[in-house]
Amino acid sequence: MNVLVVGGGGREHALCWAISRSPMQPAVFCAPGNAGIADVATCINIAADDRDAIVAFSVKQAMDFVVVGPEGPLCSGLIDRLEGAGIKAFGPRRGAAQIEGSKIFMKDLCARTGIPTADYRQFDEPEAAKEYVRSHGVPVVAKADGLASGKGVVICRTENEAYAAIDHILVEGAFGAAGANLVIEQYLEGEEASFLALVDGTDIVPLASSQDHKAACDGDLGPNTGGMGAYSPAPVVTAEMTQVVMDRIMRPAVKELHDIGCSFSGVLYAGLMFTHDGPKLLEFNCRFGDPECQPLLMRMRSDVLDALLACSEGRLGGLVLEWREDAALSVVMAANGYPGYYGRGSEIKGLKKLAGLEDVMVFHAGTEKRDGRILANGGRVLCVTARGRTVAAAQRRAYEAVAEIEWHDGYCRRDIGWRAIVR
Ligand code: AMP
Ligand code: GLY
Repeated sequence: MNVLVVGGGGREHALCWAISRSPMQPAVFCAPGNAGIADVATCINIAADDRDAIVAFSVKQAMDFVVVGPEGPLCSGLIDRLEGAGIKAFGPRRGAAQIEGSKIFMKDLCARTGIPTADYRQFDEPEAAKEYVRSHGVPVVAKADGLASGKGVVICRTENEAYAAIDHILVEGAFGAAGANLVIEQYLEGEEASFLALVDGTDIVPLASSQDHKAACDGDLGPNTGGMGAYSPAPVVTAEMTQVVMDRIMRPAVKELHDIGCSFSGVLYAGLMFTHDGPKLLEFNCRFGDPECQPLLMRMRSDVLDALLACSEGRLGGLVLEWREDAALSVVMAANGYPGYYGRGSEIKGLKKLAGLEDVMVFHAGTEKRDGRILANGGRVLCVTARGRTVAAAQRRAYEAVAEIEWHDGYCRRDIGWRAIVR
């Protein structure tokens, strides 16, 4: 079986790695991939957002199944195009992907179905947005409507911060068309967790619990990033909470999407805040989280390829996923300067010492190979993932592995998993 994975980050490395271990013995391809992915898949030099080239490649090279990692191609309709060309694909079609692609679509859906989420208002005009902040008070959260690589969300603790965020998004057009509209919402306090599930249009199979750390600095401080680390399981998501999240958030969302003709197939990811009055939805994503995917796939015992195929073929009913008892934890190593400006091209050494270990995987997020050397080629560069009996043991093992890596232009957080460990 020929399987193409679309994307080139740590999530796609984990997907290619896990799929390549399937008993179905697939031939795995990845577009565009990276230096680490090249160890487990054939990398094809096609950008993840080049829909024409991906469809043409899939037809010509007879791909049996295409797994799309990132939100960009999902929101711009890559699945619709692949299916139109007769190719089986994993991920939501464009209509359903709006659940991530438009905060306003998502918020309206929550309002219609009673899904608990922060109170909000939408604006396309800066003065009205500022007036709302003046009358409502701070803290508030300003969010660009469309996709902004995790950078379109600003937590505003003072009115001046809110005015600056409104100007940045609506007046300066920092996110282009994605910021033509703005949501201002209530600031929620609590502990966050990620709730991911496979959805085949109607049936929902939750994955193991996980949590990521979005802030750049230790203590969950500093600017938001795509994610600086993650772990699974997340103790805040108890069995009881899983039921509450399924009943109040996941089932109503999947039913509503189905009822409005935007049936969702793929991974539905709910970003949650566990507040003192229960879990509330921060965001929906239409894909695996990055880096949550990495510790999740390190823990998955079931054949991931079989599960993704079952999802795309609408036969999730009855699927039971099996997970290792161990915890897994990922530490992201990012280029100095990320999430702001950063350089590329510095050499990373020491990776060979970590190859072939049973309990450690170094997933590559942004690397390239040149003359046999591994070079940094992105903001998030490596995602060092380890398993251990507990989150604390997995954390220890992950940081031991980080210590083996020689890379002078990078940094990582030193406290990934702290909330689970202090519990
Ligand atoms: P989002 O992309 O909407 O999930 O937002 C990114 C991050 O901003 C979240 O993971 C939270 O840490 C934070 N955030 C978003 N919305 C809120 C909110 N209403 N209250 C508090 N923090 C939030
Ligand atoms: N880790 C956050 C995300 O994938 O959106």
